[in-house]
Amino acid sequence: MTKAIQIFRNGGPEVLRWGDTELAPPGPGEVRIRHGAIAVNYSDVNVREGGFYIAKPLKFPVIIGNEAAGVIEELGAGAEGVQVGMRAAYVGVGGPFYENTGAYAEARNVPASCLFKLPDKISDDQAAAMMLKGLTASMVIHRYCKPQPGDAVLIHGAASGVGLLLVQWCKHLGATVIGTVGSETKAEVARSLGCDHTILYRDVDFVSAVKEIVPDGVAAVLDGVGKDTFAQSIYCTRRYGMLVNYGNASGHPDPLDLLLLAKHGSLIVTRPAFSDHIRDAHDRAHYSDELYDLAASGVLKVKIGKSYPLSQTAEAHRDLEGRKYAGSLLLKP
Ligand SMILES: NC(=O)c1ccc[n+]([C@@H]2O[C@H](COP(=O)([O-])OP(=O)(O)OC[C@H]3O[C@@H](n4cnc5c(N)ncnc54)[C@H](OP(=O)(O)O)[C@@H]3O)[C@@H](O)[C@H]2O)c1
Repeated sequence: MTKAIQIFRNGGPEVLRWGDTELAPPGPGEVRIRHGAIAVNYSDVNVREGGFYIAKPLKFPVIIGNEAAGVIEELGAGAEGVQVGMRAAYVGVGGPFYENTGAYAEARNVPASCLFKLPDKISDDQAAAMMLKGLTASMVIHRYCKPQPGDAVLIHGAASGVGLLLVQWCKHLGATVIGTVGSETKAEVARSLGCDHTILYRDVDFVSAVKEIVPDGVAAVLDGVGKDTFAQSIYCTRRYGMLVNYGNASGHPDPLDLLLLAKHGSLIVTRPAFSDHIRDAHDRAHYSDELYDLAASGVLKVKIGKSYPLSQTAEAHRDLEGRKYAGSLLLKP
């Protein structure tokens, strides 16, 4: 038995139910991991709601959640490269994020092959708050947009989990960082972690505000907000600039007329998925080690907006959807 948050149908935060559930011994190639900290991600909300993300109907009941950190307490037959007592984290266990969920539990079984070994310098809380979000930032920086010193970069939702990591990483590389945020409190957090300029995008037209700061436009727009920001971002970008839409916190952006890219500076647009970034073992080890080093050295400060008891997950979801806190939200078993 383990305690977990399950859903028995799609819906709002009220469908999240706390209770006991069976936990079988780990199967071949699996380990049982006891969670120390569990991440709350926007994709969890999408699965809870039965949103655009889901390609096949879910088989209820479902324990949602894709990301957690903890300690291995039991090995299944043939589980390789792992030991009981080893600390580890995971972000998804293979397949799309709406399948094979189960992180909102005190413990669960996962394939040994999906684990990231955690060094002592990274706590469970840091790992759960930064693995998906940090590897997403790493994908944006390494695969698409490594700002040169002096480049201006616009980061939408700059006080979000991914946004704050991007702010710090771009600043570390020497960029001038402009961030859009939903409140003055979030603006303060974003500035304290490296934003040179913040724009309250719910109150002012962010295109005009960006053009006042950088009349020729920014080298890149890094956008995890989506529907409310993506289309207008074309007008913030300099010639040959890049738009990276990595997320949809406000919804899925409308379809894009490709000709607009030619009319507004021969722009480059991409919509990446973080799982491609770490598809092979070399990349998984390389990019996670880099993330641990950046976090341990303080280049990337992992901001935890709030931690909730796992039993209080509904409150965490309400706060996430209500845009209440800057940084990452965690669940504690
Ligand atoms: N491509 C990938 O592989 C990948 C990987 C990780 C995450 N993502 C996606 O990237 C996005 C950002 O992730 P995150 O972890 O940084 O999210 P987060 O910490 O939950 O923050 C999302 C932010 O978006 C802003 N926002 C604007 N409109 C919103 C709305 N209608 N509802 C809720 N928030 C809204 C809010 O900031 P303000 O209050 O300041 O407006 C909020 O803080 C999510 O959509 C996530 O699913 C994608």
